[in-house]
Order: sequence, then structure tokens, then C-alpha cells
Amino acid sequence: MPIKTQALVVVTGTSSGIGRATAEQLAAEGFHVLAGVRRQEDADKIKRENIEPVIVDVTNIETLKALAERVVQDPLGRPLRAVVNNAGIAVNAPLEMVPLDEFRRQIEVSVIGQVAVIQALTPALLNSGGRVVNIGSVGGKISMPGFGIYSAAKFAMEAINDSLRREMSSFGIKVIMITPGGVSTGLSEQGITTAERLAKLMTPDQHRRHDRLFDSVKAQAETWAKDGIRPEKVAAVISRAIHDRNPRTRYTAGRDSALLTRLVRILPDKLLDRMLRSQMKLQ
Ligand SMILES: NC(=O)c1ccc[n+]([C@@H]2O[C@H](COP(=O)([O-])OP(=O)(O)OC[C@H]3O[C@@H](n4cnc5c(N)ncnc54)[C@H](OP(=O)(O)O)[C@@H]3O)[C@@H](O)[C@H]2O)c1
Repeated sequence: MPIKTQALVVVTGTSSGIGRATAEQLAAEGFHVLAGVRRQEDADKIKRENIEPVIVDVTNIETLKALAERVVQDPLGRPLRAVVNNAGIAVNAPLEMVPLDEFRRQIEVSVIGQVAVIQALTPALLNSGGRVVNIGSVGGKISMPGFGIYSAAKFAMEAINDSLRREMSSFGIKVIMITPGGVSTGLSEQGITTAERLAKLMTPDQHRRHDRLFDSVKAQAETWAKDGIRPEKVAAVISRAIHDRNPRTRYTAGRDSALLTRLVRILPDKLLDRMLRSQMKLQ
């Protein structure tokens, strides 16, 4: 049912996957979506009724200032109902060899960039009593071999999400974490391409130790790309988080996420180690 009063919603990383599906879902519901993209060609592709592309690179503070300005100067004076912190990348490689600049790139985009978006939009969120919806991952609950760098970013976002929620609750800003499991998007392919590039940097010794792990990471990412839920399902969960009158602090998206987020709280580390290593055929 379309809502009668339009409000603004910001979604970052809308060129593809979950971000694009979310922008489309929220626009269909009647929100005016400010859709973050990095390239003009992606802006041209996503532009339509209720979707206004905005050039946003979460690592570029000038683009975030321009976004905040766009929100505050809205010609119709619409309130900012929510910011969906979705943009992300995946750097997958064994920890003993991952180049530190690649680690920094993961953190820059998936942690510092997310906080930069929150900081830029906080004045508007305070004004409107808006919501922050952070897109986490089951990787922020459980750290699989080969995915430690990505998980480091997503675990960090869990901490940031929880502190922010506790800091802002008395000021009318609700902070919600969405935890998807495997989702069929281009992220898997991007992660595989990065892993293949990084694999070439290994020494012969590292190859002996980690070739199998690289194969497992690739196979796992391919499984998520093939069998993961559709990004539209995650978009529907994000929509709930924005609409629910009294939203939960976190929502899972996908059965794998619902199961793993519970298991990780009750299973001992050594059993989880065996499960994960066996799932990735590393035993
Ligand atoms: N796919 C999964 O299985 C899965 C599972 C759990 C959580 N997630 C999370 O869901 C979110 C969306 O991922 P997705 O699966 O939809 O992947 P995706 O299709 O690869 O989308 C990632 C989006 O982030 C954008 N992005 C990357 N770097 C950026 C930057 N510096 N500034 C602004 N935007 C940037 C990309 O834009 P460009 O096209 O310009 O690169 C793209 O629009 C991520 O936070 C991811 O960690 C995904």
C-alpha cells in the first residue's frame, strides 16, 4: 500500500544487489529514495519515479557532504525517514598473507565509510526522528576461514550499531541491524575476483598451505551466488525495519542467517571450528 506522505530515504550502494532492490522496493512504497551510486552510468540506469540517484562514494567525504546538503535542502521539505547503510565490498584471503592495504580498503569502505554516512546524516535524522538501518551479515556473527577480513568489518559494524543504538535512543533515532545470510548478488563474484588477484601474490609456501582454502572460499562464494536468497527478500526485511512502529533491534534475512546466528551463541568454539572446516572441506 503506497504511503500518502512522501518522506526521504537514503540508500547507499544502489548500483546492484540488495541496494538496488531496496531502492526499488522503497520507491514503490512511495518513499522518495536518494539512491547512492558511484558512477554516472549507474545513476542513469536507476533513475525513475521516486528514485533520485546521488553520486556517493562512502570513502569520499565531499560526496557525503553533498548528500547531506541535498537532504537538508529538499525542495519539498520532506523529512528523512531512514538511511540504509548498505554499500560494501568483500576482501577474501587468508590472514597470513592478505596485503594490509587490502585490509584497510575493506575497513575504509565497510566500517569507516558507514560511520561517515551516519555522521553526515545525523543532523537530518535528529530533525526528523529517522532511523539508521545498517546492513550487517552473518559474517558479523561467525568468522569463517578465508573470510576473516570481511568478517572483521562486519563484526566492527555490530559494535558500532550497538553503541550508536544506545547513544541515540534518547534522541529519537532508532538504529537497526539487518543480518542477511547468503544472498544472490554480484558480491560473491567481486569477492572471487579479489581472491583470485590476491592468490597470485602468495609465495610457493603460502600456496602449499592455502591453495585449498582459496578453492573453498571460491566454492562457498559460488554457492551463495547460486543458492542465496534473492536480494528482493532482504529489501522486504529492510522495508519492515523502516515501517515497524516498534522495530526490533535486529532482523535476520534468510534461513541460514536465522539458524547460524542462534547456533553461534550456543555451540562451543571447537565444535563450530569442526563444523565450518568440514563445510568448507578443509578437514
Ligand atoms: N551478497 C551477500 O551474500 C551478502 C550477505 C550478507 C550481507 N551482505 C551485505 O549487503 C550489502 C550489499 O551487498 P550486495 O550483496 O548487494 O553486493 P553488491 O551487489 O556487490 O553491491 C554492493 C554495492 O556497494 C557499492 N559500493 C562499493 N564500494 C562503495 C563505496 N566506496 N562507496 C559507495 N558504494 C560502494 C557498490 O557500488 P559499485 O557498483 O560502484 O561498486 C554496489 O552498489 C553489503 O554491505 C554486503 O556486505 C551481502
